[in-house]
Amino acid sequence: MSAKIIAVVNQKGGAGKTTLAMLLAGSFADAGHSVLVADTDPQNTAVHWAGMGEGYPATVEDVSGEEGKLHKALRKRRDAYDYIVIDSPPAAAAPVTRSALRLADLALVPVIPSPLDLWASVRIREAIIHAREKNPQLRARLVVNQMQPNTVLAREVLGMLPEFGIPLLAASLKSRTAYRQCAALGMTLAALGSRAGLAILELEALRREVESLLSGVDVPGRGL
Ligand SMILES: Nc1ncnc2c1ncn2[C@@H]1O[C@H](COP(=O)(O)OP(=O)(O)O)[C@@H](O)[C@H]1O
Ligand SMILES: [Mg+2]
Repeated sequence: MSAKIIAVVNQKGGAGKTTLAMLLAGSFADAGHSVLVADTDPQNTAVHWAGMGEGYPATVEDVSGEEGKLHKALRKRRDAYDYIVIDSPPAAAAPVTRSALRLADLALVPVIPSPLDLWASVRIREAIIHAREKNPQLRARLVVNQMQPNTVLAREVLGMLPEFGIPLLAASLKSRTAYRQCAALGMTLAALGSRAGLAILELEALRREVESLLSGVDVPGRGL
């Protein structure tokens, strides 16, 4: 077993890095995989999420002290998990973010469909391009978070995304109370049960798309 490694990154705070990392890791774990969430943000939001209840099925660890040595520390642990999901601080140039991108198979960049958020995210694109010098296998996808379908703003912002230079994941996350409830209760979406029906479908579509990207079903080398 050699874990597939997903780094959830963005320069912008509040874009949904921790939410995406914890929902996705929880979804992998609920599907029967062994999963480590490596919390590299000194604020330790992912660790707090898991600590809110007894029911979070993935291992969540504070590894913020590893800084630029993160890739070496996680490489040693790759054989113990199916997936390692790295949650990161809002700092594209931080040693820990660079180290995460150096090791990851896939970078996921959550973006809120607002021009301000997109402008603030440009530096993460540079960080991904830089990381590919040492990690040419690194793929990257934007993930629209807090999607508001059928609004003029959403259409305009989504129209800007191709210029951003990182391909867009087809699946996205809407703004949903269920996602906040997971964090408040320290559990996964599936554990919320019927309260979270639509959210569960939305997250499952996202997980499947990520799985197929990581298994190479997607055309290799396409885009970033
Ligand atoms: N899809 C979503 N639906 C509802 N609330 C969300 C969603 N994504 C993020 N949030 C909320 O927005 C805030 C910022 O999200 P968070 O995941 O902490 O961002 P980051 O880790 O990038 O700083 C949190 O309060 C979180 O609960
Ligand atoms: Mg966070």
